[in-house]
Amino acid sequence: MIKILFVCLGNICRSPLAEAIFKQKIKQYGLETMISCDSAGTANYHVGESPDPRTIEVANNHDVPIKHFGQQFKKHHENEFDYLIAMDHSNRLNMIRELDGEHDSLFLMRDFDKNGKGEDVPDPWYGGMNGFENVFQILDRSTDEFLKFIKEKHSM
Ligand code: 4NP
Repeated sequence: MIKILFVCLGNICRSPLAEAIFKQKIKQYGLETMISCDSAGTANYHVGESPDPRTIEVANNHDVPIKHFGQQFKKHHENEFDYLIAMDHSNRLNMIRELDGEHDSLFLMRDFDKNGKGEDVPDPWYGGMNGFENVFQILDRSTDEFLKFIKEKHSM
């Protein structure tokens, strides 16, 4: 089983949406026994909380089921997941700090986005639904490419 952890700051907007979108793609490809995913936030502000109502709304708008309870990213996650996917450069730095250094399994979500490679998935927290729709489109594209990468790399 290949295990993937998507990570943002609060674990209520970007990373639970990435998790939900990726889970739906895993199911669509019939890869549920091969790939699993979860999400976490580098901050502890929203531990135990459901995703932001705007995250749920944008997921619902695209018929993507979403269910998650916030958890904080911790060092032990490096042993439990094969891929740690940061939503932005700041999340990545916070993760490196928690892990006491760089890690081979650490990537940026938009390393896999053809349209804006290596850029941040913008934090939609202070904006309106347009920002959440933009995040959805970025995550939909990036997770498509990421799934291709995983399938090729692990001969699925
Ligand atoms: P996320 O968005 O990192 O995509 O979940 C945020 C959620 C909460 C906060 C910031 C960003 N906050 O400051 O509480």
